[in-house]
Amino acid sequence: MRRIQPASSLTMPYSFLFRMLKDPRTTGALAPSSARLARELANLAKNSENVLELGAGTGAVTQALSRVVNEDKLQIVELQKKLAVSLKKRYPNLKVLHSTAHRALDNYRQSGSVAVVSSLPFRSLPPAIKHLTVQSLLAFLKSSPGSQLIQYTYGLSAPFTAPAGFKWQQIKWVFANFPPACIWVLTKSPDQ
Ligand SMILES: C[S@@+](CC[C@H](N)C(=O)[O-])C[C@H]1O[C@@H](n2cnc3c(N)ncnc32)[C@H](O)[C@@H]1O
Repeated sequence: MRRIQPASSLTMPYSFLFRMLKDPRTTGALAPSSARLARELANLAKNSENVLELGAGTGAVTQALSRVVNEDKLQIVELQKKLAVSLKKRYPNLKVLHSTAHRALDNYRQSGSVAVVSSLPFRSLPPAIKHLTVQSLLAFLKSSPGSQLIQYTYGLSAPFTAPAGFKWQQIKWVFANFPPACIWVLTKSPDQ
């Protein structure tokens, strides 16, 4: 755990909005995650042995995670090269992958339970990418005992439909976020 260089709070919302306009389906939000939402996600993840963050974006959630998770236990993944490069500069001791989430999940090798903390915009992702990502997540949870997916969504229903053998739990709404977000946790059912 280390002291983090704060990202510019003035320029970040503008660059985020620019990215949203350029690539709305993969960005999936109008603003970076709030500090409150990021803290709630980090609190849910902190007792797992490892943490894998998907769709780290501008690093709002990474910042909260890096306060409660040892840096050798935290890996982060971001699809957009510019963002991945800037995250690596900001967090030189973290493993930062410029990759799709499904590839990162398929290649992830760490023993022990994993909290997968995701900002991926499942409601807007292109269908083929959404399908690949969901399949990789389900395979990962199946093969990794004690692991969980911690995901937020701006909608009223679960982030995506999970098949039999998996269970979504709605955790809480965070209103101090734009727009308000609901946190959900997906786990493998105990008897599977
Ligand atoms: C809602 S935004 C980021 C939110 C982030 N918590 C923040 O505050 O900046 C979602 C991020 O997921 C990334 N993303 C979208 N699809 C992805 C994929 N298939 N694999 C990895 N990252 C992806 C986007 O590039 C974007 O940065």
